[in-house]
Amino acid sequence: MTRGPEGAAALPSAGGTGASGPGGSGGRREAAGYVHGYTAHEARRLDDQAQTLAGLLHAGTAYPDGSRVLEIGCGVGAQTRHLVAAGPGARYVCVDRSPESLETARRRLAPSGADLTWQCADARQLPYEEGEFDHAFVCFLLEHLPDPERALAEARRVLRPGGTLTVIEGDHGSAFHHPPSRYAQRAIDCLVRLQAVDGGDGLIGRALRPLLARAGFADIEVAPRTVYVDAGRPHLFDSFTRQTFTAMIEGVGDRAVAAGLMSRADWERAVADLLRTAGPDGTFHYTFFKAVARRP
Ligand SMILES: C[S@@+](CC[C@H](N)C(=O)[O-])C[C@H]1O[C@@H](n2cnc3c(N)ncnc32)[C@H](O)[C@@H]1O
Repeated sequence: MTRGPEGAAALPSAGGTGASGPGGSGGRREAAGYVHGYTAHEARRLDDQAQTLAGLLHAGTAYPDGSRVLEIGCGVGAQTRHLVAAGPGARYVCVDRSPESLETARRRLAPSGADLTWQCADARQLPYEEGEFDHAFVCFLLEHLPDPERALAEARRVLRPGGTLTVIEGDHGSAFHHPPSRYAQRAIDCLVRLQAVDGGDGLIGRALRPLLARAGFADIEVAPRTVYVDAGRPHLFDSFTRQTFTAMIEGVGDRAVAAGLMSRADWERAVADLLRTAGPDGTFHYTFFKAVARRP
């Protein structure tokens, strides 16, 4: 599987944000933290991201009435909202390891009237019987896990034979833009590196198919879903380039500077250069990967 740049694991996890990973994973490396943290700013960014990308990422996903759906790593419910909109009659069980995020999600989704159960659980050790679910949905979770194979094995275990798993992940290596900026590129590399320090993989999108195959899934289909922003789609300047991507980079700035990866001045230049791509002469490209697979 593709990992972060060489030497990443030796970096200090300075200023680590958010909760530590649950122990006893038995994975390759234990998570030192969660790179994006659990701030109100990040909760808003997840909402903005889900809203902006809903059409792109959720197209083709609609769970039938009465089906049992497990959302793993639901966070503040930013994607749950869209699952429920497309499949209002399904029965959802949504898990996350953060009780605070779950409480926010529960409060926000209560008015939907959907059949939703919220549970604090580790994706790598799900508290469910084998074959309990018809479908499982995972979005932007595997990239944060030191052992994504283990979470996928758990997802497979709790699915009934023939049940489907949908996985959506990004790949920060797919980010490129105009005007080019070596500062912005270094900042993107810093995010990948810090994520690797936490045991994650910011380049996981390209590895979804082999991961799913190794976890024993069948009928795997992976589709790249690309966001391309230019002056012909100016609404994406704000919602994607600024509020989703640049906000994500900005969120690790203090940590990158504290770890000595970039100077404060270079970091500020990187952010300014990214913001400049959201202008009349700028363009921005990023590819997400959506996989659908079946438990044999
Ligand atoms: C980037 S957020 C994505 C949230 C949501 N899927 C979305 O797209 O808005 C990643 C989420 O995974 C959760 N998470 C990380 N490691 C986990 C684990 N081992 N088990 C369960 N949840 C985990 C975090 O608490 C966080 O809420």
